[in-house]
Amino acid sequence: MRNRTKYLGSTAAAAIVVAAAAVFLIATFGISPYSVTRPLGSKPFTDEPAKLLAMGTTLHADTSLSPIGRSCNTCHLEEDSYKATFNKPYPHYVRSVQLKTGLDRITAEGMVQFCMVSALEAKPLPWDSNTLAALTAFVLERHRRALGRTSAID
Ligand code: HEC
Repeated sequence: MRNRTKYLGSTAAAAIVVAAAAVFLIATFGISPYSVTRPLGSKPFTDEPAKLLAMGTTLHADTSLSPIGRSCNTCHLEEDSYKATFNKPYPHYVRSVQLKTGLDRITAEGMVQFCMVSALEAKPLPWDSNTLAALTAFVLERHRRALGRTSAID
């Protein structure tokens, strides 16, 4: 009986250690897939493509988006600052997204949210915000050029 109590006690202790480790790992390295996936029924902000692109170009250099003073340009100043996966149609596989969220594919706007959280250490942008729409327009314009396409949406 004593042995059994001891066994149960150490099993419970082990379970607590494993749970605490999981919480710590998710809190430290994990990003919720919900942070990078557009909620069902939500709509993106829309405006003239040229306006969104101009705003996105400015925001891409804006360090005030990040509590630690980074902008997207900190890491993606040049068009060739992305890995090879960038040169595939969206949604597509991105290694660090898979590692941190478990998702096998991500959209361009999901990628903006992912770098907002993982690289800028900020909160995800509101899904209906002009900021998210503008940064996505900027990313899609670079993507269009990377793919050698004539329109961002073909
Ligand atoms: C601290 C550096 C850093 C900053 C700042 C940063 N990113 Fe990233 N970003 C990365 C890294 C690293 C990758 C490559 C991830 C991979 O391929 O596994 C990446 C990948 C990307 C990709 C391409 C992924 C693909 O293959 O499709 C896009 C688009 C992107 N970032 C957008 C942004 C935007 C928009 C911002 C600003 C909100 C931003 N990034 C800020 C580090 C950064």
